[in-house]
Amino acid sequence: MSFLTQSKEPKVPDDAATEIASGARLLPRITIQAFCEHSQTAELVEAAVHDRRMSKVALTTHNGGLDGAIESYRSNPTPNLIIVETSLSTEEIPGALDRLAEVCDASTRLIVLGHVNDVLLYRELIRSGVSEYLVLPATAQTIVNAISDLFAGEGAAPIGRTIAFVAAKGGAGSSTISHNVAWAISQHLRQDVLILDMDLPFGTAGLNFNQDPPHGIADAVNASSKVDNTMLDRLMSKAANHINLLTAPAMLDRTFDQGERDFEQVVELAQKTTPVVVLDLPHVWTAWVRHTLATVDEVVIVAEPDLANLRNAKNLADTVKALRPTESEPLLVVNRLGMPKRPEIAPQEFATSVECKLLATIPFDAATFGTAANNGQMLAEVSANNKINDLFRQIGLHVTGRALPEAGSKPGALKLPGFLKLKKAS
Ligand SMILES: Nc1ncnc2c1ncn2[C@@H]1O[C@H](COP(=O)(O)OP(=O)(O)OP(=O)(O)O)[C@@H](O)[C@H]1O
Ligand SMILES: [Mg+2]
Repeated sequence: MSFLTQSKEPKVPDDAATEIASGARLLPRITIQAFCEHSQTAELVEAAVHDRRMSKVALTTHNGGLDGAIESYRSNPTPNLIIVETSLSTEEIPGALDRLAEVCDASTRLIVLGHVNDVLLYRELIRSGVSEYLVLPATAQTIVNAISDLFAGEGAAPIGRTIAFVAAKGGAGSSTISHNVAWAISQHLRQDVLILDMDLPFGTAGLNFNQDPPHGIADAVNASSKVDNTMLDRLMSKAANHINLLTAPAMLDRTFDQGERDFEQVVELAQKTTPVVVLDLPHVWTAWVRHTLATVDEVVIVAEPDLANLRNAKNLADTVKALRPTESEPLLVVNRLGMPKRPEIAPQEFATSVECKLLATIPFDAATFGTAANNGQMLAEVSANNKINDLFRQIGLHVTGRALPEAGSKPGALKLPGFLKLKKAS
């Protein structure tokens, strides 16, 4: 049929895939997994990686087509985009996609590579939320164009989820928890994470990841409206696979008196380029902190189980709820629980008083946290089997919109994937 994507595209040889119009937008740091049935299709998808627009994309190809994908996602997290080849018939494809949907996270998008040139099938799949159906044989450029329309097109929604961590009282552990949660997201969900260390004079993201880059977030903020993707890329430092940092200068040669909207541009840009943006906020109450808390997707309040923390956490939670009545409510993590000899408020009681969902309680463990901090490492690096790592993972799953794992089920499997939303709703 004439308007299927295959025929929409100009017929160009594969080797032209790298020659794109200047000014074409780079794709954000998304992860893509392709499940192919034929080796030619796998080669085609792999050729797409050479397109300049794909330079930040992490793409892997696998065998097995739809069944391979379903099998794999029973036990593995889903990426930002799945590309799946199928040679099933028109009648069989929707049912097979239903089975795939059951094992996918809600935010995952899907491009189907099929062998049937059928406009009714195309319409049904698009109606059911499949992002694109491309008929094979196609060119690598066709595939990149489809991905680009999805993630970098004019109307494409920002892909990044912003998660702010704030301490109810100085030293409660919000930076440590934000960095470890970011690490867990990058390792377990294999999503790219960018940490913004917004504590310009005293921030510890650089220390905690053993990085000392010459530039960081202050340069981006100072550049104000001139900051763009290329600049942000230059200012970032790679802390590990899937983790980038914008570090704080942590120098006292000047004061840092940011205006209410000074971080806005950096956060917006970060959201356009990275799937998960973790904001490590300082424990201060300024116009820009309040504005940031009002505009992010998720707010996590980190508190120690004592009275001053309780009062501050309650004030913070009430203020955040009032600032963003229609957005998700702030979440609570009680940290440093069980410090020897310290009288403590029971976490559930604490959460009830603060009127926040208690996401996790993290035990006080001076030896492990101290070693990690002094080595510039994450907890998982100094103590891989520590149960606290599971808590970081659970917080990560929750704040990225994945369901908390039910016993025996795959995290996120209970959520309705985007590509079946419309179908199930109708
Ligand atoms: N559960 C814990 N057990 C023991 N030590 C911890 C725990 N959580 C954090 N720490 C330690 O507490 C100290 C303060 O942590 P962190 O810098 O993360 O706090 P913060 O809330 O970000 O403080 P700030 O107000 O300076 O931003 C660090 O040395 C960290 O290693
Ligand atoms: Mg901090």
